[in-house]
Amino acid sequence: MKIIGIIGAGSMGSGIAQVAATAGHEVVLLDSSNTMLQKAQQGLNKILARLVEKGNLSKLEAGAILDRIHFTGQLEAFENCDLIIEAIVEDLSIKKQIFRELETIVNKNCILATNTSSLSVSAIASASEKPHRVLGIHFFNPAPLMPLVEIIPAIQTDQAVVSTARKTINNWGKITVLAKDTPGFIVNRVARPFYGEALRILEEGIADVATIDWAMTEIGGFRMGPFTLMDFIGNDINYTVTETVFKSFFYDPRYKPAFTQKRMAEAGYLGRKSGKGYYNYSEGTTQPEP
Ligand code: NAI
Repeated sequence: MKIIGIIGAGSMGSGIAQVAATAGHEVVLLDSSNTMLQKAQQGLNKILARLVEKGNLSKLEAGAILDRIHFTGQLEAFENCDLIIEAIVEDLSIKKQIFRELETIVNKNCILATNTSSLSVSAIASASEKPHRVLGIHFFNPAPLMPLVEIIPAIQTDQAVVSTARKTINNWGKITVLAKDTPGFIVNRVARPFYGEALRILEEGIADVATIDWAMTEIGGFRMGPFTLMDFIGNDINYTVTETVFKSFFYDPRYKPAFTQKRMAEAGYLGRKSGKGYYNYSEGTTQPEP
C-alpha cells in the first residue's frame, strides 16, 4: 500500500487523510466542492501547527505530512491508488454512483472502501464491477484521535482483501474490529438509544439539553453527553444514520428517529460544523452556549 485515495474532504475524509499521511502514505484527497477542499487544507494546516506547538511533532514532520496530501477535484487523480476510502454524504445512490465511476479509473488491485456509518456495504459493493474488492472501513470522529476502526466485509468481499485492509489500518496505529454487514455495525447500533432516549427525554420535557449532557458526563461518566456528541458528529449525518438504521431494521420502533433531530437537520443547525446545533459555537467561544 503506497498511495491512498480519499473521497470527501469533510470531517471524516480530512481526518482519515491526516491519519494516512502521518503513517507515511501519499494521499490524494478529493471533494466535489472547492470550498470544502480549501476548508480541509486550512483545517489540516491548523491541526498540524497545533501538534507542533504542543511538541507532538517537529515542524519538519508536520511539513512532510502536509506535503504528502494532494488535494483534487478530479476522480482521475485516483488512477495509481492502492486503497480508496470513500467518505462522502450518507446516501446510497450517490455512494453507488461514485463506486461505479471508480471502476473505470482505478487499477485492478486497488481496494475500494466505504466509511459509511449505516448503509449496507453489500449494496454499495454491488455497484462495483468487482465487488470482491469492496469493504467497509469505518473510522470514528475525530479519525486521528479515535483508536477504533470497524472492518466490515460485504458478503461479496474476498478474505484476502479483508486481511490486507485490516493489516494496513492496524499499521496506521488503529485497533480494528471485524463487524458483520448489518445496519449501524457495532458502535453505531449500540449508540442509537444513547441519542434516541436523550431526545425523547428532551421532547417529553423531563430535562433540558444542558442538564441531560451534564448528568451523562458528570454522573454517567461519559466523555461527552448525547447532545454535545450529536453536535460533534453533525446533526445531518446523525439524523440520516438514525433514519437508515430504523428503516434497515424494518421500522423497529427501538430505532425510531425523533422529530427534534429531523428539524435540526432541516434548519441547518448541524452542530459544530455550521456554528449552531443544540449549542452555539460562535467564533472564539471556548464554552459552547446552550
Ligand atoms: P461531511 O458532510 O463533513 O463531508 C462530506 C463531504 O463529501 C463534503 O465535503 C462534500 O462536499 C463531499 N461530497 C459529497 N458528495 C460528493 C461527491 N459525489 N463527490 C465528492 N465529494 C462529495 O460528512 P462526514 O461527517 O465527513 O461523513 C462522511 C461519511 O462518513 C458519511 O458516510 C458518514 O456516515 C460517515 N461517518 C461520519 C462520522 C461522523 O461522526 N460525522 C463518523 C464515521 C463515519
